[in-house]
Amino acid sequence: MLEVNVTRKVVEAEGICSFELCAADGSPLPPFNAGAHIDIHIGGGLTRQYSLCNDSKERHRYVISVLKDPASRGGSTAMHDTVSEGQKLSISEPRNLFPLADSAKRHLLFGGGIGITPMLAMAHELHHQGADFELHYSFRSSERAAFIQYLRQAPFASHVHLHDDSGSPAQKLDAPALLAAAPDNVTHLYVCGPAGFMNFILDTAQIAGWPEDRVHREFFAAAAVDASADSPFEVQLASTGRIYYIPADRTVFEVLDEAGIAIESSCEQGVCGTCVTGLLEGIGDHRDQFMTAAEHAANDRFTPCCSRAKSPRLVLDL
Ligand code: FES
Repeated sequence: MLEVNVTRKVVEAEGICSFELCAADGSPLPPFNAGAHIDIHIGGGLTRQYSLCNDSKERHRYVISVLKDPASRGGSTAMHDTVSEGQKLSISEPRNLFPLADSAKRHLLFGGGIGITPMLAMAHELHHQGADFELHYSFRSSERAAFIQYLRQAPFASHVHLHDDSGSPAQKLDAPALLAAAPDNVTHLYVCGPAGFMNFILDTAQIAGWPEDRVHREFFAAAAVDASADSPFEVQLASTGRIYYIPADRTVFEVLDEAGIAIESSCEQGVCGTCVTGLLEGIGDHRDQFMTAAEHAANDRFTPCCSRAKSPRLVLDL
């Protein structure tokens, strides 16, 4: 856990604030790579993950940007309404579940709305590497889009393509054309944004024949799941043989946590991958958005925070 001060809070666009965080004791912050996020302990038991959007060469600060989402579970509203300059916050060290692929010769970055945040850090890093990349930023309107001016003046501005959904047809994102033009073996695709945007890009990529190992994604929030037909099942731990009953209305994580079985977790809604655990027996009802369809089909890993079972019992590698 790190103690930081909020040294700047800036309104970037309608409903979007950036926060600059510096170590409370003035020391350099732990290094990170583009795509990393931090957990922020906002208070009142709320912990939320936010992508770092500044240049990873900077060690004196982390910058995050937060969209106030009234439909969220309270984290973004608390960040906007209760966190102010000068305040101390506890944060985790950066963790990266959305890294740039070392093997890629070319990178296509697609950011939708607030999904631009990890892409900013990626663009900085790729620019430093002299890499071949394009950053496509789609937004509903310029009033609701953060960092437009910044991107126009950035040292990597020539790699940036802005797509205003409320603007002229000529500049709108043409994902089928962009993705059809790049199904080679050296380009990697990165997508972050609201679920509708992500699904559109991911579906388009799949139709264009992109293999999953060259498509990288980061969801902000889980898609809604119909839990009305959920039923109980059992989970057995391979290390002890102990069996736990998972009621229809509780998650594996909740039951095991209550029993003192520590599983590292972060988002608790299937998007971050922190809780991924080996699945040794049984058939998982995989509900996370972290793993790909092929990984779900492999059925050898499991997210206890949200996934359930299609067989009466699962044996977990715990
Ligand atoms: Fe994030 Fe389970 S805690 S996927």
